[in-house]
Amino acid sequence: MKQVEELLLENKAWAKEKVMEDPQFFERLVNIQRPDFLWIGCSDSRVPPNEITQTQPGEIFIHRNVANMVVHTDLNLLSVLQYAVEVLEVKHVIVCGHYGCGGVKAAMTRHSFGLINKWLRNIKDVYRFHQEEIEALPTEDERVNRLIELNVKEQVLNLAETSIIQKSWKKRNYPYLHGWVYALQDGVIKPISTLGPNSTLHHPIYQYDNLD
Ligand code: CO
Repeated sequence: MKQVEELLLENKAWAKEKVMEDPQFFERLVNIQRPDFLWIGCSDSRVPPNEITQTQPGEIFIHRNVANMVVHTDLNLLSVLQYAVEVLEVKHVIVCGHYGCGGVKAAMTRHSFGLINKWLRNIKDVYRFHQEEIEALPTEDERVNRLIELNVKEQVLNLAETSIIQKSWKKRNYPYLHGWVYALQDGVIKPISTLGPNSTLHHPIYQYDNLD
């Protein structure tokens, strides 16, 4: 495992290498960021967004939390979302989960983990909504992985239920919302769901009708 001093040394080497490859690399990024994507991912160290999509600094605006949740009272997530959609005008918002997610696994148990129970509670709700489908699966791994997929789908719906997304759909006809799941085993991402300006929500009660 790398010590912090080593991280700083590696950073210097990286910066030098970038300039050697492309002398204007940092100059171009100093004054403006124009990413097309907002990424909402799990904090898991094994799922680094830029690396697994071969993207560069400046290409993806990123928010990460335990189990890639879109919680409608989370000011942090909502602030990132509002800035990405209204100021950066991203074209796509990606919710990317991953198989074997510890947060989802923890939410499937009846164990109390302290403070994080409050966060995992949101995943337990997703389990309850899809209980029949999940419990019909024969193995624990299959049940966990299905909940991981359903959770991503649910978080995409949660995004669509925000006035931020609905307003942008009305005004700009984007962003498109995508639910993906990354496999730790082979590094490949599986697309699960997509929503866009013409998609229907869970229920019409979530549709705001006075957005300008
Ligand atoms: Co995770």
